[in-house]
Amino acid sequence: MTKNSIVVSGIRPTGNLHLGNYMGAVKNFLKMQNEYNCFFFIADYHSLTTHPNPMDLHQNVRQVLAEYLACGLDPEKCTLYIQSDLPQIPELYLLLNMHAYKGELERVSSFKEKARTQPDNINAGLLTYPVLMAADIIIHRAGLVPVGKDQEQHLEMARTFGNRFNRMYSIDLFPEPQAFNYGGELVKIPGLQGGGKMSKSDGDNNVINLVDEPEKLRKKIMKAVSDSGPTEPNSAPSQSAQNLFDLMATVSSPETLNFFKEAHANCNIRYGDLKKQLAEDMIQFLTPIREKIQDIYADEAYLGKVAKLGAEKARESAEATLTEARKAIGFKRFF
Ligand code: TRP
Repeated sequence: MTKNSIVVSGIRPTGNLHLGNYMGAVKNFLKMQNEYNCFFFIADYHSLTTHPNPMDLHQNVRQVLAEYLACGLDPEKCTLYIQSDLPQIPELYLLLNMHAYKGELERVSSFKEKARTQPDNINAGLLTYPVLMAADIIIHRAGLVPVGKDQEQHLEMARTFGNRFNRMYSIDLFPEPQAFNYGGELVKIPGLQGGGKMSKSDGDNNVINLVDEPEKLRKKIMKAVSDSGPTEPNSAPSQSAQNLFDLMATVSSPETLNFFKEAHANCNIRYGDLKKQLAEDMIQFLTPIREKIQDIYADEAYLGKVAKLGAEKARESAEATLTEARKAIGFKRFF
């Protein structure tokens, strides 16, 4: 069997990218675009389940597109597109829906969770979210999908729906997509409030957004949780102290990091000084990225060019698959 090196991943257009997204997801995308045939898209159809207002929807799509481009996604190396520019996706979704069963969809944990938290908006789009996601993936006959643990069940369903279609119509059209990661240690980017992973769900003060201005970064970092300082020499840092070291490790020089680690070991660390240094190093690191995001966001002509190129490349791949699927089903044009 030849290696399937087609990659698909969808990016939800929700809010700003933060440092955790950058060090986790985005960096992997940058590496993958050099090694695989990658389709990365902004999942704007998926975001409709929560009924965004039209202005917000467009702005959010534009913002993530600008952010990914600024981080280094290269429209010449990968196929970067907006989901709603591909009519082939909803068409395949419709075809797959005919073999997706209410019972199995109701058992999906993300659906159960949403049904519980938003009981007033349990729409059919929410129920069939995994079908749409399956269509996203198998429309390009992808083999690899870089997603986090929380998406594994959806990926399993993409395999189920693809296999079911193959079996129904005695065709070998859809390969089985597998979760992909580069292995090795994942860089862990902690939040600022002393908890675990940097995450928007813990509030804006917990995250460092790529677009945060210097003053905002200083404020957020100075307010980061620390502790009352070590009392015994060479004691292990508390979680909040370790978090500050971890953040420092991502943006500061090894010398700077060692300086503060030694101060901790010698019980004379001053967290205020550490945070000041961390804030300045963070600003140094993020300023070029922020400026690039702003430039790209403002450049409508460039964004238009990128979206058009992506749509063209993606449509070609999608249409080839869909033609096979239509044929297998028995659609035959009279004209
Ligand atoms: N459901 C994914 C998420 O919430 C986004 C997504 C939509 C996706 N379609 C996809 C991811 C296809 C990978 C492949 O993050």
